[in-house]
Amino acid sequence: MEKTKKKIKIICVVGARPNFIKITPIIKEFTKHQNLITAKLIHTGQHYDSKMSKIFFDELEISQPNYNLGVGSDSHARQTAKIMEKFEPIVLKEKPNLILVVGDVNSTLACALVSAKLQVPVAHVEAGLRSFNWQMPEEINRVLTDRLSDFLFTTEESANRNLIKENIPKEKIFFIGNVMIDTLKNHLKKSQKSKILEKLKLKKRTYALLTLHRAEIVDQKENLYLIADILKLISQKIPIVFPVHPRTQQKIKEFELEEKFKMSNLIITEALGYLDFLNLQNNAKIVLTDSGGIQEETTLLKIPCLTLRQETERPVTVEVGTNIVTNLNKEKILKELNLIMKNKFKKGEIPPFWDGKAAQRIVRILIKKLKK
Ligand code: UD1
Repeated sequence: MEKTKKKIKIICVVGARPNFIKITPIIKEFTKHQNLITAKLIHTGQHYDSKMSKIFFDELEISQPNYNLGVGSDSHARQTAKIMEKFEPIVLKEKPNLILVVGDVNSTLACALVSAKLQVPVAHVEAGLRSFNWQMPEEINRVLTDRLSDFLFTTEESANRNLIKENIPKEKIFFIGNVMIDTLKNHLKKSQKSKILEKLKLKKRTYALLTLHRAEIVDQKENLYLIADILKLISQKIPIVFPVHPRTQQKIKEFELEEKFKMSNLIITEALGYLDFLNLQNNAKIVLTDSGGIQEETTLLKIPCLTLRQETERPVTVEVGTNIVTNLNKEKILKELNLIMKNKFKKGEIPPFWDGKAAQRIVRILIKKLKK
């Protein structure tokens, strides 16, 4: 009788907007190796609004998740606990050989913890990034997820160094590049068909693009107040497009700052889909952000980026790319803006392995290691 070889079973976890972008090329690569791998997709439901979830599945053509845990928004403890409670029976039923988690959101840590307790190996994609700012929920998620992981896939060399310093064995660390960049490269052409510039009546290289959603920034009234003042100054020099994250929208309302954010030359839109937003990034004169992924995307696109945070966990975007960390320092932001307006900003290079092949490397490594 012919011996049938057992396939490697992998459960991939997504929960929040940036996760969908990161998982896309990995799922695609697993599909190419269907003879060896069975992959299942679990959506925790951390993000659930159409503009935060469904639009990404549609635009990135991600297959529908096999399970949706539907946890929704809640406090950190309750959200994390709900994910864990609902994820555990699925792992027990599916008996996977590996759980793959991406990024640094609550869903990432919750599922890594469940898996480690059930002795199921964990792969963490985007391991080792450190802001060293323990006030960020993402930093807690990153450090703990890495500690629980068996395969740590890294995007930049600083991450390898951080993990070694934390005594993670070298054999577990794989420097493979950046899956978010894989997705960007695969969708850049398609994004050029977006009509968002016409819709917002904008011309290429004549506007600034702004995003803000980090809890440690937008959850404090004084920060939002200061940001509105800074935007007023910037908008006198260049129009600003601001697609607003639901958290930020909620906070502006809660702190009664809606009037303060009304100004000419500030175009406020709801959260945008992947293709429209990529098109806006690619054609911007400058991007201002507190996001992690956007620091990386602007580096790949060679668009000047000012990061409105105290530090970055992605130092390669500053050392090699087009990013500068300005915090909410008005003078610094205006100084850099002036340089950018005069085309005197640094040009930037592309970091190693940000070549669109990160997912291929991940899958090659997993097949090699898990086949044994
Ligand atoms: C989460 C991640 C953050 C990531 C971001 C990307 C954590 C701790 N944070 O932050 O790292 O950069 O996603 O977007 O995991 N909301 C909606 N609709 C949704 C989702 C959320 O309205 O579909 C609102 C809710 O009021 C919710 C708030 O946004 O309370 C915050 O959502 P949550 O998932 O807790 O964190 P994010 O700020 O989105």
